[in-house]
Amino acid sequence: MSEVKLLGTGSCVPEKIVTNDDLAAMMDTSDEWIRTRTGICQRRIVTEETLTSLSVGAAQRALESAGILAESLDLIIVATLTPDEPLPNASCAVQKALGAWNACCFDLSAACSGFVFALHTAAMYIRGGAAKTALVIGAEVLSKIIDWSDRKTCILFGDGAGAAVLGASDIPGFLGAAMGTDGAKGHTLTMHERDIANPFRTRWLSEHPVLEPAQSLSRFVYMDGQEVFKFAVKRVPESIGQLLDQAGLTVADIDHFVLHQANYRIVEAVARRLKVSMDKFILNMDRYGNTSAASVAIALDELMRSGSVQNGDYLVLSGFGGGLTWGSLLFKMII
Ligand code: COA
Repeated sequence: MSEVKLLGTGSCVPEKIVTNDDLAAMMDTSDEWIRTRTGICQRRIVTEETLTSLSVGAAQRALESAGILAESLDLIIVATLTPDEPLPNASCAVQKALGAWNACCFDLSAACSGFVFALHTAAMYIRGGAAKTALVIGAEVLSKIIDWSDRKTCILFGDGAGAAVLGASDIPGFLGAAMGTDGAKGHTLTMHERDIANPFRTRWLSEHPVLEPAQSLSRFVYMDGQEVFKFAVKRVPESIGQLLDQAGLTVADIDHFVLHQANYRIVEAVARRLKVSMDKFILNMDRYGNTSAASVAIALDELMRSGSVQNGDYLVLSGFGGGLTWGSLLFKMII
């Protein structure tokens, strides 16, 4: 069994900045409403970029900071809800662009928790001996699945990608995980894909009278904002508490908290519940909005590049979102 450590990080966001005022010019909203309820001031939205180009940009920076060549990778996981194409998936497109020919590649779907789930999966591959060096990417082009006429949701989201490289190590850098899922509450954050329309299904439907009226299912993201808010402020502190109990640490031992950047008020509520100063929480939703699976990855990269992480620092990463899913990871920095 091998230990696991964080070797490097990277991120890449689209060029185009869309401010709250830009949105207010398109719909009935205001900078004041968005800023005070979410902490978001602007977001990046793709014009020419793709999920693959953002992912590759983030991956190249992560590989560079890790000092790793693409050929050394034996695992690539891309966490995303929005691959450019379902076939081939995003991880295969990234492999091709990087020339990472020795890597086994797959996508992982866990909504805004995706990067945390993928990082955990990669850590388990390395710990179990199935991989030595893994690239984990969280990437989204949410702008293509957002209903731009729904002011309750479209103001929240942005596009981007972040990446991390994990490697086998003698010294433990990855210290534990506390993950969870509540499928019974899945209806609070949904997006319908496409109907089953094969000839057998069509015939079956004609022979079976529909007892209940068909639900109108949106092909865009639907969100019950208040339910999601309540879920996040309950589950995130719980999972961090569980994680720290397992590791025999307390919140006072943690140097940096990297939470999913959904909303400033959620981070503030979590900090309050944990009784931790906001200074320990990385915040960048003002610039990027909620980038779903990319959010923790981009925030982690900004933290790593800020120069404020020292050898031996403890980091907690925490994601939460559709599913409902949530998860927290504990790392000790070995630099
Ligand atoms: N601009 C202006 N007014 C808006 C608006 C917008 N963009 N969106 C909604 N409103 C209006 C509503 O229509 C409502 O008006 P009404 O009272 O006349 O009906 C009013 O503002 C309040 O709406 P409500 O939905 O109750 O607002 P809220 O205080 O719950 O804030 C969120 C909405 C989305 C900011 C908040 O629920 C939230 O942050 N939820 C968590 C979302 C999240 O993080 N999701 C991702 C998780 S991965």
